Order: sequence, then structure tokens, then C-alpha cells
Amino acid sequence: MSDEAMPLPVKPPAGLACDAVSQAGRPQYPVPAGKLAAFPHSPASHMTTRVLTGITTSGTPHLGNYVGAVRPAVAASRAGDTESFYFLADLHSLIKAQDPARTQRSTLEIAATWLACGLEPDKVWFYRQSDVPEITELTWFLTCVAGKGILNRAHAYKAAVDKNNADGEDPDAGISAGLFMYPVLMAADILIFNAHQVPVGRDQIQHIEMARDFGQRFNHVYGREYFTLPEALIDDNVATLPGLDGRKMSKSYNNTIPLFAPRDELKKLVFSILTDSRGPGEPKDTEGSALFQLYQAFASAEETRAFAQQFADGIGWGDAKQQLFERIDAEIAPLREKYEALMARPADIEAILRDGARRLRERYATPLLAELRHAVGLRDLSQQPVAETRAAAKAALPVFKQYRDTDSRFYFKLVDAEGNVLVQSNGFDSPKDAGKLIGVLKRAEQADAMETPEIVLQVPAADVLAALAALREAEA
Ligand code: TRP
Repeated sequence: MSDEAMPLPVKPPAGLACDAVSQAGRPQYPVPAGKLAAFPHSPASHMTTRVLTGITTSGTPHLGNYVGAVRPAVAASRAGDTESFYFLADLHSLIKAQDPARTQRSTLEIAATWLACGLEPDKVWFYRQSDVPEITELTWFLTCVAGKGILNRAHAYKAAVDKNNADGEDPDAGISAGLFMYPVLMAADILIFNAHQVPVGRDQIQHIEMARDFGQRFNHVYGREYFTLPEALIDDNVATLPGLDGRKMSKSYNNTIPLFAPRDELKKLVFSILTDSRGPGEPKDTEGSALFQLYQAFASAEETRAFAQQFADGIGWGDAKQQLFERIDAEIAPLREKYEALMARPADIEAILRDGARRLRERYATPLLAELRHAVGLRDLSQQPVAETRAAAKAALPVFKQYRDTDSRFYFKLVDAEGNVLVQSNGFDSPKDAGKLIGVLKRAEQADAMETPEIVLQVPAADVLAALAALREAEA
């Protein structure tokens, strides 16, 4: 990241649901004017939320991708208290697309799209997955702790197996190990930068849960909180755009409008949107009208109201299409111009991506992998192994101490090996009640599992969780 001043959070365009990041319930730290909380270099970076977005590099972006993903994500990237990661998931794309020229073309187009739409590579981390080899290395470490049974239940894999079964084929016919391992690679993408939040569609929630599971297993097996467990950030306000035929705009329905179609092609496509047969002068329904919904996705609330009025007044479809076309083009034309300029200079895009990955590796990925290699035992053979006997570990374990106080009530506390109190309980009527809560705490793997007025944490929740994990490890 550069050391230049970062602008204050930009207000998103009207009618746009792009405040997903600020809705997430994390404390919001105001960004003082001219001060940059989003800088990874800044001492304040420990309190920024890290938000990570993976972009599949397949196909050519259409208006639905723009409205549903690119535009809100770019707006969110300007929130002052986040450190944002945007990457092109080109390794993932190999699972489906095995046409090298198309893979290259699509990666270029998608990188150019995000840059043209306003992603600022000196303010956010923008990189290509395959430029960070530590991601692939971490994928293997995670593969070795990931439960195969969990992967068996992944929706995409299961759907493929179900289809084979229905067709009377071998259950795994035509399924690559890449498809099966997709969630592990995705977990590595997320865990390597200790992302707190991952904005995704509902179809990806299971993948985030798996990332949590693999991260937690690794933490557990190797006895420390190496990884932050990520949360899926779902924004239900983001519009899904209808396509030319009124169904959801999607490549698989062949009803898309390419985001950067030239002006005359855009016009032709807009004029081909399906409408009903009502003539000029007849009032039109806005409800269920693809044309109206498309307009709404690009217009302010006020413009949308005026357009609805014209529908009620019986605007002709030709007029309505002309207005829609002009409204879309007003927003897209300046981006299209940038896109075309970028596409004409692929070497610049290549340089931006490489530079992003280089800085990111230096700052996070390389040191983390050095630590993880050590953690798993891929170590310098000339160094003395540290005594890690069970007995030594046991002596250093925290303990729950139950006691009865002068008020005759029953209490407990969790105390670490040095005698520091980590958790203090309130009084219970019976030792059994106290014991029950101890049982709950012993299983706590996340901070919210410790949210009860019966106890007061004396140290940060992460430290308590680490102590509890160490206890479980020793008792396993
Ligand atoms: N699976 C995501 C999708 O299909 C793309 C992706 C790959 C991703 N790695 C990721 C998304 C990591 C978020 C985080 O949209």
C-alpha cells in the first residue's frame, strides 16, 4: 500500500445496497480526517476489519455481475475502517475451464473490469491467486487436516454425484479431484490473510463454514490460534438483475447484457428486452417489468419515481427503452472508456497484479507460511527440537477452580499456569450449576459461546478461547 492519503469513505450511489460491511456488527472506528485506519502499515491496523472477496475468472462480465457484485464491492472497498482483499481466483477457474487462451482472456477482462469500475490498487490489495504460491502450499496443509467426509457433503460435489447416480453412472464419473478439493483451496484463500469477513452469495455459505472448520482443526491440532475464523457476510439487499427475457440475468440462460458492450450494441440489446403487448397510451405495470427493474438498478429514487409515473401515464415501450438505454449508458460510458484504455495496455494490468501479490507476500503470506511450516514440523534439521512432551505441556495448562465464597454461594474461575485469572464466574446456588457452565465453557470454540452474564472475562476472548482449546487438546 502506498503512503498517500486515502479519501474519506465515499457515499455510495443512491439506491444502492452497498453498506454490507458496516452492517456486519463489528465496532466501527471513525476514520479521522487525513488519517488512515485502512493502512496495513498503520499502527491502527489491528482494529481494522479484513474483508476478502474472491472473483472467479470465467466468462465476460455482464450487467448483472456489475450491479450484484462489482459495484457494491467497489463501494464497500472505500469504507474507511476495512482492509480489503480482492483477488482473481484463477486457480479455481481451472476446475471448469481448461481452454488456456480463454483462461488468459477472461483473467485480463475481469481484472480490467474491476479496475475500470473504480477499484484502487493502491488502497486495497488487488492480486491474482496464482501469484501467491503460499496459497497452494497452505492448501496442502489444510488438506491434511480437512475431513474427507466434510468434503463429501459439499453441495457442488454432491450435486455432481447425485446426477451420476440418477444417470446410472459410477458415482464419481467425470468428477475431478479438483472439484472435490475446491473448498480446501477456497479455505486457503481466506485463512492465509486471516480475513474476518467474506461477502458472498448464499450459495457460498457452506464454503465459508468449511473454511472455519479446516482453520479450527488446524488451530486445534497444532495448538495455537494460527487462523482467524472467517464469517460469511450476506447482503440480501443487493439486487439480482433480470435479463433480456425477464428471468435472472445469467450466462446459463443466455439472456445477458455484456457490461462493456459498445454503445450501439447496448442499445440493440436494451431494445430487445421482453415487454408485454400494451400500446402507447395504455398504463403499464412496473411490477414484474424487467425493463423497470433494470432502470431502478441504475437510477436514483427520484428518477425511479418519475419513471413509475410515466408507466402509469402510458409511456410507449419504445420511449421507455430509450430512457433505460440512456440511463444505463450514462453510468457505464465513462467506465467503458476506462475499460477500453486498460484493455489496450495489458502489460500495465500485469504489472499491477504482480505488484499487489509481491507486496502481499512480503507483508503476510511469506512470514505466515514460515510460521506454519515450523508449526507442522517442516523445520531446520540443525536446530534442537524444542521439548514438547505432554508432561511439560500439562504443567503449563490452565485450570478451572471451583470454590465456595463467604456469601455461601458457589463460584469458579479459570486460572492459567502463572496464576492469572482468565475468567471469573458470578455466584451459583449449587456446585452443580457452576459445573454445568464449566462444561459449556470447556466446549466453547467461539467468543459467542461464552456470552453469558454468569461470567466475566478478565482477558481478551481470544486468549480465553486459546486456553480452552489447550485444555481440550490435553484432555483429548
Ligand atoms: N467460490 C467463489 C465463487 O464461486 C469464488 C472464490 C474463490 C472465493 N475463492 C474465494 C470467494 C475466497 C470468497 C473467498 O463465487
